[in-house]
Parts: sequence; C-alpha cells; structure tokens
Amino acid sequence: MSKIYASFKSIGAYVPERILSNSDLEKMVDTTDEWIIKRTGIKERHLAAEDEVTSDLGAKACALALSRSGVSKEEIDLVLCATVTPDYFNMPSTACVISDKLGIRDVQAFDISAACSGFVYLLSVAKAFIESGMKKNVLIVGAEKFSSIVDYTDRNTCILFGDGAGAAVISATTDKEEGIIDLHASADGAYADFLVTPAPGTVNPVSQKVIDQGLNFVQMKGNETFKLAVKTLTKDVKEILAKNKINSNDIPHFIPHQANYRIIKAVGDALKMKEEQVVLTVDKYGNTSAASIPMAINDIWESGRLQTGELMLLDTFGGGLTWASALLPFSGKANK
Ligand code: ACO
Repeated sequence: MSKIYASFKSIGAYVPERILSNSDLEKMVDTTDEWIIKRTGIKERHLAAEDEVTSDLGAKACALALSRSGVSKEEIDLVLCATVTPDYFNMPSTACVISDKLGIRDVQAFDISAACSGFVYLLSVAKAFIESGMKKNVLIVGAEKFSSIVDYTDRNTCILFGDGAGAAVISATTDKEEGIIDLHASADGAYADFLVTPAPGTVNPVSQKVIDQGLNFVQMKGNETFKLAVKTLTKDVKEILAKNKINSNDIPHFIPHQANYRIIKAVGDALKMKEEQVVLTVDKYGNTSAASIPMAINDIWESGRLQTGELMLLDTFGGGLTWASALLPFSGKANK
C-alpha cells in the first residue's frame, strides 16, 4: 500500500468588521499611536460584535475554507478547533458548536488549547490522524474572540490583541509532493506564568474575588515573553530548515505568528530573510492568537501572492509556553 501524506488543500478566514484603532485606544488608556507603532508595529485590530461569538467567527472561516477545498462537508471526518477563548468554559467544545453551525454531523470534533501555537498544533494532529489512515479530510480552525479576555484598562495587553478566525482543509493524498514535509511542536510548562488567564478554572473558580481582581483577564510578562519568543522562534526555524536541508533563501513564504513586528523583524534578520519572504499582517489585525497564522495565509492567498505548490514555513510561539514550526507546500487550487 502506498504511503499517505497530509496535504493543505485550502484556506479561509474571517475578519470581524469593527476596527479598534490606536487613536481609539489613546482615548481608553495612557498610550499613544506613536508608542504602539514603534513598540509593536500594530496600527489597528478588528473586534467581534457583542453578539458575535468565537464559533461564529470560526464557522465563517470554515465555510470559506470548505468552499475552496473541493471537499464536501459530508466528506469531512474530523473537526478540530484551536482557541483560548472558547464559546463555553468548557463544554460543549467550540469545534462541536462550529460543526453544528456548518451542518457537519456525526464526526469526531474537539478543541485544543495551545494559545498562539494552536493552528500549527492542529496541523500536527491532522497530520497524525491522516498519515495513520484514521481520517481522510480534516477541517481545522483557529478562532479567537480574544477581546473577551482583555482588560481594556490595562495598557500592557489591550493594545496587542484582536479577534478573528482562520481555517483550512487538510486531506489525505498519496502524492508526496503535496504533503506536509515536516512539523515540530513543543512546550515548556515551566514558563506557564508568562501568559495566563487565571480564571475561570479549578485554580480560581468563578467567585466575587475573580470579578473584583479581574482574574478572568489575560496577564502577560511582556518583556520576558518577547525575549524568549525571539530566541525560540529563531532556533525552531533553524532546526527545521537544517533537518530538511533547505536554505532560508529558498522559502518564498515565511509566515510567523503575528504578535509584534519587532519579534518578526528580529527573527527574519537572524535567518537572513529578505523583506518579501516575510508575511506581515500584525499592522492590521494585531495578535489574534490561534487565528493569526491562518489569517496571514489567507491574506497572501487572496491577494494572489501564494501560488499552488509554493513552500510555506510556519513558525509560532504562545502561552503555555508552546511553540511550533511547519514546512509544507500550499496544495490548494490557484486563486484566479
Ligand atoms: N503605551 C505606553 N507605554 C507603555 C505601554 C503602552 N501601551 N505598555 C507599556 N508601556 C510602558 C511600560 O509601562 C514601561 O514603562 P516604564 O519603563 O516606565 O516601566 C515601558 O513602556 C516599557 O515596557 P516594556 O514592557 O519593557 O516594553 P516592551 O518593549 O517589552 O514592549 C510589549 C511591550 C509590546 C508587550 C512586548 O513586550 C511584547 O510584544 N511582548 C511579547 C508578546 C508576545 O509575543 N506574546 C506571545 C504570544 S501571545 C499568546 O500566546 C496569547
């Protein structure tokens, strides 16, 4: 029997309409447009409407990815969602809600929690299910209503995050040229306190204390996270490229997690990447956590920059701490 590979068949994303600009933030906290651009590269981010929840964002991205994949919803046999802002803490899973909204029935569906690394983690799960022969067509989605866990009086965090979703269909193929080449995902819980939402959970169940102390909001050790992000992202890429004997100059699309322009620039420079190789969306979306990488892939596909068969190098880093990198061709149809 010929070996089975996992191919990245399509991409889709959803960006909520409402824009929160730096000048809007100037009216909310003690910050300036100049500081935010200089320190992060972010100009604006999109926020979901009040009645728009994570599964709404995710279902819209999934519908687009499905329609572009040539795979029918009846052929999907696994639905996976990465999110740290699920519809419910913690059941039903957002993957179940999304499946229902899309009319995908009687398939395995579950969520994973790997913060900003969520989408590449999903790719690793989809790859394993497909290569083992257990599943044929996996719908994966990174979806976040991050604004629901942001304290808009905390200038250290509220300037950084946005809402959105990005999805892809990953399918079985016997054509090695179409398959995911390599993927590496890892974590180190010793740095758990760098990025944390202390409640709700068994450590801090919902209580008056949680409300009074705002423990339901994201807390971040920004500077420490920044330094570790640059180090880990660079090391991860160097390792995956060396292992596969690929030169960084031969990567047409380096798609790093979009957390901060300075992190992306430092990693790109360390890898001697040219500006045109590095995909940047942080200026218009901010950090959308698990949705960040698929939203960026969708941007370059919709603009015609990403062509069928071209190599993508994904590299991400997030709460947990988690990190992951992947080397794969885009195996979907051309965007005509
Ligand atoms: N406006 C103006 N001043 C500010 C703001 C703001 N919005 N935020 C912080 N400052 C001040 C600080 O109070 C500090 O002032 P002080 O020197 O008087 O104490 C000064 O600016 C410098 O603060 P730092 O935190 O050292 O600033 P830094 O250059 O590190 O930038 C930032 C902060 C943007 C948060 C950066 O550290 C960063 O991007 N960190 C990484 C985030 C990240 O990668 N997260 C990973 C993924 S997220 C996930 O998984 C969900």
